[in-house]
Amino acid sequence: MSDSSVKLIDALADGQFHSGEELGALLGISRTAVWKQVQKLVELGLEVDKIKGRGYCVPGGIELFSGERIRSDLLPAAEPLLARLDILTTTDSTNSVVRQLAEEADASGCVVLAEQQTAGRGRRGRQWVSPFARNLYLSVAWGFEGGAAALEGLSLAVGVAVKRAVASLGISGAQLKWPNDILFNGKKVAGILLEMIGDPAGFCQVVVGIGINIDMPESKGADIDQSWTDLRRVSGQSVSRNQVVVALLNELLPMLASYQKKGFCHYREEWQGSDAFRGQPVELVMAKNSISGIANGVSETGAIGLLVEGEQRYFNGGEISLRGAQ
Ligand code: BTN
Repeated sequence: MSDSSVKLIDALADGQFHSGEELGALLGISRTAVWKQVQKLVELGLEVDKIKGRGYCVPGGIELFSGERIRSDLLPAAEPLLARLDILTTTDSTNSVVRQLAEEADASGCVVLAEQQTAGRGRRGRQWVSPFARNLYLSVAWGFEGGAAALEGLSLAVGVAVKRAVASLGISGAQLKWPNDILFNGKKVAGILLEMIGDPAGFCQVVVGIGINIDMPESKGADIDQSWTDLRRVSGQSVSRNQVVVALLNELLPMLASYQKKGFCHYREEWQGSDAFRGQPVELVMAKNSISGIANGVSETGAIGLLVEGEQRYFNGGEISLRGAQ
């Protein structure tokens, strides 16, 4: 992002009107050039009003992430676990940035947040739509002894942490879709992408990437290939992005720090209590085949349970969908 765009965003962040003349003087450019810069912000997904005689305004302002605010609002159980907090204006993917940190050293507790991702990654090769300053894109690394076995069920437990975080903001009723989507009324509000690096049998690190839709512009949501919602739509009011980060880190960091000891069995009941598909006819699509059954909870290691012809069977991979759903 150019220096001019950053300066313009800072100027418009207060939600007040600023004349083209004032903005031009600030940026050292002509009024026509200001208009062109404003168009760039609109392309990023920001709503900018222009009124003749008054100038430009972003209704409601822009709440950028503030490291100071986030750190100072963390609970004592989470604050010491935050080793580092980097806030990037734009990056390809926060998971890639954290992955790089973890490849260099033990990056446990290193958190990267971005205002925008240009190549946000979702599960199964999907893109994660990541417009500027509207949602949350966060990645954190954590190290585990005992390799892949210590990580069983972790992605489901992260889903529980996200659900708790959202509930702590007064937005209750989130449901979990195996393995780790967070839904409201069947629409996806948040997704989780875990990546492992290191020794699958020894010390390894997990990069936990979380995307939460907070205030997705309709124009950007049109690029999402599944039904979606965001916290503003679900709660019916504007939601502070910094508060969402704080709520998330308050749940996530202590959970990561104690996971090796507690394991998924500690979260299983809570996960099952919010299972979006329990008791419903589903289809599980795996790499080579698919299987139909009735969704019937998850195992102590986070595998999905399906009742297939009356028999309980567990599966570790694949994607489930409601049978008969579009
Ligand atoms: C999914 O498909 O449900 C997983 C989405 C994960 C998106 C987050 S946004 C922060 C982090 N960086 C990425 O590139 N992806 C994850």
